[in-house]
Amino acid sequence: MRIALLILIAAQAHAAGTFSTTVPNLKLLRPKTEIPEIQGKEVQVPEDLRKAKDTWGTQAQSALLDKLQPTPKTSFRFAVIGDVEPGRFPWQRVFAPKGAFKKQIDAIHAASPDFIVQLGDFVSKGIVKNYRAYVQFLADNVSLPMFHVIGNHDRSKPNGKADKNLYHAVFGPGDFYRDYNGWRIVSLDSSNYAVSDEQLSWLDEVLDTELKTIVATHIVPSYLKKKLHSIDVGEGFTAQGLIPKAYFETGATRFGSILAARGVERVYMGHIHAFGVANVNGVKYVLTAGGGSPLYPLPGSYPKRKKAHYLLVEATSAGLTETVYELDGTTYPITW
Ligand SMILES: [Fe+2]
Repeated sequence: MRIALLILIAAQAHAAGTFSTTVPNLKLLRPKTEIPEIQGKEVQVPEDLRKAKDTWGTQAQSALLDKLQPTPKTSFRFAVIGDVEPGRFPWQRVFAPKGAFKKQIDAIHAASPDFIVQLGDFVSKGIVKNYRAYVQFLADNVSLPMFHVIGNHDRSKPNGKADKNLYHAVFGPGDFYRDYNGWRIVSLDSSNYAVSDEQLSWLDEVLDTELKTIVATHIVPSYLKKKLHSIDVGEGFTAQGLIPKAYFETGATRFGSILAARGVERVYMGHIHAFGVANVNGVKYVLTAGGGSPLYPLPGSYPKRKKAHYLLVEATSAGLTETVYELDGTTYPITW
């Protein structure tokens, strides 16, 4: 099965904008057009963070996954953890559940999934000090393969024009996919509150596969306004939501069309610090942004389930089943 998979991927090796790596089932889109206009000074990357890529970069973590899981299997489990940045300012940190990220990372390791997907916003601002602290956290606490989607906070400025030098230096391109036992997991960089036409063409191409597909991206597309709701655990449907910068608009319509046309099995998103689900045009979306970031008061129109949590996902040939694990011990399955 693995050989067939590799042949399939080789046959689909595409195009300008991608390059092969030493890991055959990992592809990354070059970040050539990802970098938005930079306001002010670019962040300079120190040598220690460049070297961190050898351990924590997407390619290195993909190789680690191959090393730890060399045998093909028909089902597997992985974890998804959303926003973990602790808040840039003291008033924000008041809303952060204490020690939640470490507790949840420890719980995930105890459950032994094959790998972890982090949905972005792992630092409060993309500066050297914060990346150093985060890399140290990984070194101290993470032994499972872990893939990082880029969030807006992981750039040099959380909002507005910013560079992504540190993310690219430590993790690599923000657009990549990893194939694993019949599934293709795609990371799409929406950290500029936009996805470009070039990115969407790449997305459409990589979703054109016999494999079952999952898309992970940080920011929620604008067509999910009024659509995300908590599932039936005592929380009701939610309606309108209008926090500035909660969604991305540019590229959203085409993004949604591609996901529906390609029959994507699941979309995981972060950014809005809550939990919610939506089923739109046959595509199932999960907002899971409770990795440890502040759980701010949100207007009543936003998803009401705001607790620190992560997901454990089981993937089989029949599809995905997810269980939500909240920090206080509450667990429940996602039902559709
Ligand atoms: Fe964010």
